[in-house]
Amino acid sequence: MSEKNRQWIFLKRPHGLVTEDIFERREEPVGEPGEGEILVKVEFASLDPANRAWMEPVPTYKPPVMPGDVMHSFAIGRVVRSRADGYEAGDIVEGMLGWQDYAVLPASTVRKRNPRHSLEHLLGVLGITGLTAYYGLLEVGRIVAGETVVISAAAGAVGTIAGQIAKLKGCRVIGIAGGARKCAWLTEELGFDVAVDYKSPGFKSELAKAVGSGVHVYFDNVGGEIFEAVIPHLNTYGRIVACGTLTNYNDAEPQPGPRGLQVACVVKRLRMEGFIVLDFAATWDKAEADLASWIEAGLLKPPVDVREGFETLPGNLVGLFNGTNKGKLMVRINSSSGPAQQG
Ligand SMILES: NC(=O)c1ccc[n+]([C@@H]2O[C@H](COP(=O)([O-])OP(=O)(O)OC[C@H]3O[C@@H](n4cnc5c(N)ncnc54)[C@H](OP(=O)(O)O)[C@@H]3O)[C@@H](O)[C@H]2O)c1
Repeated sequence: MSEKNRQWIFLKRPHGLVTEDIFERREEPVGEPGEGEILVKVEFASLDPANRAWMEPVPTYKPPVMPGDVMHSFAIGRVVRSRADGYEAGDIVEGMLGWQDYAVLPASTVRKRNPRHSLEHLLGVLGITGLTAYYGLLEVGRIVAGETVVISAAAGAVGTIAGQIAKLKGCRVIGIAGGARKCAWLTEELGFDVAVDYKSPGFKSELAKAVGSGVHVYFDNVGGEIFEAVIPHLNTYGRIVACGTLTNYNDAEPQPGPRGLQVACVVKRLRMEGFIVLDFAATWDKAEADLASWIEAGLLKPPVDVREGFETLPGNLVGLFNGTNKGKLMVRINSSSGPAQQG
């Protein structure tokens, strides 16, 4: 194949916030699949807070990205050539395809996806994002109709879906997000009952007013001071869903705190449980079917924030930590005129 493969190479580990200069653009010849492998043309790369966590030299739920690697990324694309049983040109696959035009990888490391849905939805609401919201609330948080649920990073990828699932399950939902515009969007467009701006000087008193008689479930995407602010409002037997720690990912050292958690855990008999969505892979098909049915029924709006072009990948990852996205952030690297339908 004469076409070139554009790649963003991870050059060096960042200190603090991600900056664009830790990546270098290169071009390589497109690879050829070996036995059991496939060649995939990457169409959308998912930008995730976890991308930053993978840059530290410690394994998370996967090995870290190493200097010299193509930047790791969940992504979706189409098979161009296959030397693996069960895969053929045109199949839609999702996996760790990386920031590049073409990936050659073992077919056993990707997931074949249903062409009935759009690639944006397959990578977002019907992918890791939606599944994280689904399992976090239903399996870990075990929400019950009538309960009050607080969600942080509420205007982001997971938060927007989690809030809407909690609403359709009959809960009262309070979102925490940065800025008045995002908060208005959550209540006016996505049906959150209340949204509170954590950047407002009156955040703590606004949160106290919003929660009313207390919080049954806190879906924590951020940790840090926002988590600390929610602790006093948790009810006896409240549950904390530890989904992510956005406030920590850019720190070289772990943060202390949150203050007040241990005492509250004992006195209020709280349960705090972390999870990784990959733990639930055995039942993803059922969860995806539920999510798709809610979309079809008009109960779930999946907001997608698509940025255009391979060149924008580093800048858009920086933007993720500055709150530039609403809903699921992804970058279109290539597009095809394949059969995927919207919805
Ligand atoms: N456990 C799992 O299996 C799993 C799977 C996927 C994701 N996650 C976690 O879920 C969380 C949400 O992920 P996502 O994909 O939905 O990302 P996201 O919310 O779309 O991430 C970006 C948003 O987070 C907010 N943010 C960024 N830095 C922040 C900070 N220091 N403090 C408070 N808010 C900050 C910003 O919104 P504002 O403008 O509102 O600040 C930004 O728009 C992350 O912690 C992620 O690691 C966990």
